[in-house]
Amino acid sequence: MVIVIRSSKLQLWVAFVYSIMCVSIAFNPEDNYLIDCGSTKNTSVNNRVFLADSAVNSNDPLTPENILTNASLNSMPTNYSDLYNSARVFTGVSNYSFSIKKQGRHWIRLHFFDFNHPKFNLSNAKFSVSTQKFTLIKEFKPKSSGGGSGSGSFVREYCLEIDSDRLVVTFSPFANSFAFVNALEVVSIPGELIPQRAETTPHEGFQSLQKQALETVVRVNMGNESVSPQRDLLSRSWVSDDAYLRHNVLPKFVSNVSAVNFNGTNVTDVFAPADVYGTASVLNSEHDPHTNVNITWIFEVDPGFQHLVRFHFCDIVSRAPDLIFNIYINSWIASRYFDLRVHTSHIPGAPYYMDFIVRKSDSNQLNVSIGPADLTEVYPTAILNGLEIMKINNSRGSLDVLDTFSSKSSKMKVGFIVGIAIASFIIVVSVLVLFLLYIRRRKLAHIAHLKAEDNEVAMFSSSKIGYRFPFVAIQEATGHFNESFVIGVGGFGKVYKGVLRDETKVAVKRGGSQSHQGRAEFRTEIEMLSQFRHRHLVSLIGYCDERDEMIIIYEYMENGTLKDHLYGTNLPCLSWRQRLEVCIGSARGLHYLHTGPTKAIIHRDVKSANILLDENFMAKVADFGLSKTGPDLDQTHVSTMVKGSFGYLDPEYLTRQQLTEKSDVYSFGVVMLEVLCGRPVIDPSLPREKVNLIEWVMRYQTRGRLEDIVDPNIINEIKTESLKKFRDIAEKCLAECGLDRPTMGDVLWNLECALQLQGNEEKSSSSNGDMFSQVTLSDHSHSQTSVSTTQFSVGDLAGASMSKVFAQMVREDTREM
Ligand SMILES: *[C@@H]1O[C@H](CO)[C@@H](O)[C@H](O)[C@H]1NC(C)=O
Ligand SMILES: *[C@@H]1O[C@H](CO)[C@@H](O)[C@H](O)[C@H]1NC(C)=O
Ligand SMILES: *[C@@H]1O[C@H](CO)[C@@H](O)[C@H](O)[C@H]1NC(C)=O
Ligand SMILES: *[C@@H]1O[C@H](CO)[C@@H](O)[C@H](O)[C@H]1NC(C)=O
Ligand SMILES: *[C@@H]1O[C@H](CO)[C@@H](O)[C@H](O)[C@H]1NC(C)=O
Ligand SMILES: *[C@@H]1O[C@H](CO)[C@@H](O)[C@H](O)[C@H]1NC(C)=O
Ligand SMILES: *[C@@H]1O[C@H](CO)[C@@H](O)[C@H](O)[C@H]1NC(C)=O
Ligand SMILES: *[C@@H]1O[C@H](CO)[C@@H](O)[C@H](O)[C@H]1NC(C)=O
Ligand SMILES: *[C@@H]1O[C@H](CO)[C@@H](O)[C@H](O)[C@H]1NC(C)=O
Ligand SMILES: *[C@@H]1O[C@H](CO)[C@@H](O)[C@H](O)[C@H]1NC(C)=O
Ligand SMILES: *[C@@H]1O[C@H](CO)[C@@H](O)[C@H](O)[C@H]1NC(C)=O
Ligand SMILES: *[C@@H]1O[C@H](CO)[C@@H](O)[C@H](O)[C@H]1NC(C)=O
Repeated sequence: MVIVIRSSKLQLWVAFVYSIMCVSIAFNPEDNYLIDCGSTKNTSVNNRVFLADSAVNSNDPLTPENILTNASLNSMPTNYSDLYNSARVFTGVSNYSFSIKKQGRHWIRLHFFDFNHPKFNLSNAKFSVSTQKFTLIKEFKPKSSGGGSGSGSFVREYCLEIDSDRLVVTFSPFANSFAFVNALEVVSIPGELIPQRAETTPHEGFQSLQKQALETVVRVNMGNESVSPQRDLLSRSWVSDDAYLRHNVLPKFVSNVSAVNFNGTNVTDVFAPADVYGTASVLNSEHDPHTNVNITWIFEVDPGFQHLVRFHFCDIVSRAPDLIFNIYINSWIASRYFDLRVHTSHIPGAPYYMDFIVRKSDSNQLNVSIGPADLTEVYPTAILNGLEIMKINNSRGSLDVLDTFSSKSSKMKVGFIVGIAIASFIIVVSVLVLFLLYIRRRKLAHIAHLKAEDNEVAMFSSSKIGYRFPFVAIQEATGHFNESFVIGVGGFGKVYKGVLRDETKVAVKRGGSQSHQGRAEFRTEIEMLSQFRHRHLVSLIGYCDERDEMIIIYEYMENGTLKDHLYGTNLPCLSWRQRLEVCIGSARGLHYLHTGPTKAIIHRDVKSANILLDENFMAKVADFGLSKTGPDLDQTHVSTMVKGSFGYLDPEYLTRQQLTEKSDVYSFGVVMLEVLCGRPVIDPSLPREKVNLIEWVMRYQTRGRLEDIVDPNIINEIKTESLKKFRDIAEKCLAECGLDRPTMGDVLWNLECALQLQGNEEKSSSSNGDMFSQVTLSDHSHSQTSVSTTQFSVGDLAGASMSKVFAQMVREDTREM
């Protein structure tokens, strides 16, 4: 008795261990159709059993012919050769139909072999292959492509998202022709293999991959070694990179498979086997610390298609403290200062992969390069372990070139060629004409653009967007955060001037406190800044979150803040015209935020210190997007925590905690008064009645003595009408109730009027005190405008930020009035 129980326990245990081993070592796809087409016996290849065709499709209505192909006579150096002894030939449209147990991504692999057969002459074969949704092959005339592992045979591999319970693969031969296939695989693959979306290069944001069909163009193992399907969990074949290397610069090939460590990261051997991560092509810089060359691989691709490019990395060699390099696709920089150590959380030997969608081009080449980062403190290194290029279906759901371009068949008739030539000539001429028209239009548009229009989105250099910078790069740019580089200090931390290696000047904001709140704001600002681009919003160049740092790198603004040009410094004073232009620029930036493409953004901290001026005194709004958006929106929308800058706060927001775009309009009205009067909003050093700029201006306005208020530096150049217009807008912006305030669009329009009223002459022809008396001053009572300010003790708060939170992003639909 006792012995029996023990033995059954032992059996159970063995079964348990076995199942665990299966999970961790083997791959058990839910759908696993392996078919040896045309064969009457099952064929085992690399421990995978390909079933006899008849066993699968016994009730095929079209009775296609099964043929023997004499493959064994070829003595091919491939492990699939047993599959190629037979083929199935179709003379009419025929389907393979598979019931799908688990919807999701599947491989479809089609195996072809160049056979010799007395009845079916291969050069007569011409056919298409499709599924219900996608065209896999169009007008295919078999010719060994060399893409496969053995001569005379090749494999087409597709990765399809199947969202029905049946997959039908249709072979459609052309008239008087036939279709064939030697083997067929339909296999489920782990869902994580293909991401939901990937970043596009050049930088255009992310793109969904969810429903896209993919075809493997090439799958390369770096290090001049191939990896055969039986060494890959998903039976993928990896070819050596040697054939694709641009041989002007040769890498060092390294191999250390035992260094690969799949523990500790999410990258498992589902993505690539240890044999792939364990070999690499490495920049050969051993003897030269000034090595400055790229390693380049050149691949042939079909023009007119987007491609998914996946890079596989694993640090199996480097003993240097940093492993930072640049990655290029064609001439675009896909990742600048790519820091493998950071991406693998400094786990030695941890694999990492990265995806990019390369936009379609007319070129039939796709080049991939890695090269040293141009940083003095980083030893030149670069490593690549594997690379996959997958074609993405075009808008017609096709993966075949012939569906995009006209036939490339060499049997084109002469008349056809002539026709093509004439057509091409016409096309070329029309394209040329259109191009010239386009250039002309662009010129005109450019002029119009300069003349100022709404929502002009900045032209930006794609290579300077949103990159994750290594800490060392920022240290280098700022002289190790040298105090003499500090150009500003704010609630967030210090702002340094920096110069990147390519001599781009940047402003580097380094977060001080490591608070949780600070980190959330840091992330939000990066996410937001990388989405919104406008010539009147300061743009993001990069960021660094290494070593718990919170660093944001912005474009450098040569002329500092508007505030510094209005008062309190020795900087040259701005003319009235310049001031109007600055107001117009910043109004345009705010208008863009408020009417943004998807969501309205409320800046929340509009003030003269957050309006920056570039070398041409063009205004850009800064410091937006630090606050959180999304689900907890309502929480912040009616919030007890008032955020913003003292003196600029919307009284309605202060009393009712209701935040709308009109709060920014109020703050902008305050900035306009600063611009007009050339003094701070709150100046405690002044006599009591003058401390608060808004109260003071309103009081003087009602008494009609504006000349006492206008900045003496500009009083002689302001034209009466321009002043009147300006004052009217400012006053409306400062209306007690948000509903009474204009929108930023109205403000912008009125400011442009004020600029026109000022006329074109830089200097006012005559100036006299009388002009101010001509201004009809309204009797609007603004005695309550400054309700807010009375809630605080004024003494020590001049211009200080109440909170380090600068801006708030709010969805349009949460506006409440
Ligand atoms: C092939 O294998 C299948 C499944 O194991 C089996 O049902 C079938 O009888 C086999 N066919 C031949 C010809 O051995
Ligand atoms: C065939 O399989 C064997 C192991 O089963 C392997 O050593 C060999 O490299 C494979 N050959 C090819 C061409 O894939
Ligand atoms: C093959 O499949 C297609 C698409 O599902 C279907 O329209 C067609 O009727 C099928 N043909 C045959 C011969 O079963
Ligand atoms: C295979 O090769 C043999 C010998 O060369 C030949 O007699 C036979 O016809 C061939 N079979 C086919 C299907 O080509
Ligand atoms: C197949 O056809 C081509 C041209 O159509 C011809 O040159 C070749 O000899 C044929 N092959 C056989 C085995 O009949
Ligand atoms: C790659 O290895 C092959 C032999 O496997 C060799 O012939 C070839 O020269 C190597 N390529 C380079 C670039 O060293
Ligand atoms: C391979 O990597 C392991 C782990 O990093 C290391 O211990 C070993 O020395 C390496 N082997 C070679 C030949 O470099
Ligand atoms: C990874 O984990 C497995 C099982 O826990 C262990 O056998 C193996 O040695 C680990 N590998 C490394 C490189 O740490
Ligand atoms: C693994 O993935 C999960 C979910 O995507 C993520 O939260 C986690 O941080 C990842 N772990 C590592 C080590 O990358
Ligand atoms: C590397 O390639 C990129 C993209 O083609 C190019 O911009 C860069 O100048 C190259 N660097 C070197 C050192 O050749
Ligand atoms: C790829 O590199 C080759 C050789 O340097 C060059 O001729 C070709 O124009 C490049 N292709 C692209 C798309 O950059
Ligand atoms: C690929 O095909 C799917 C489904 O037909 C389609 O939704 C998608 O837009 C296509 N992809 C591209 C890049 O056009």
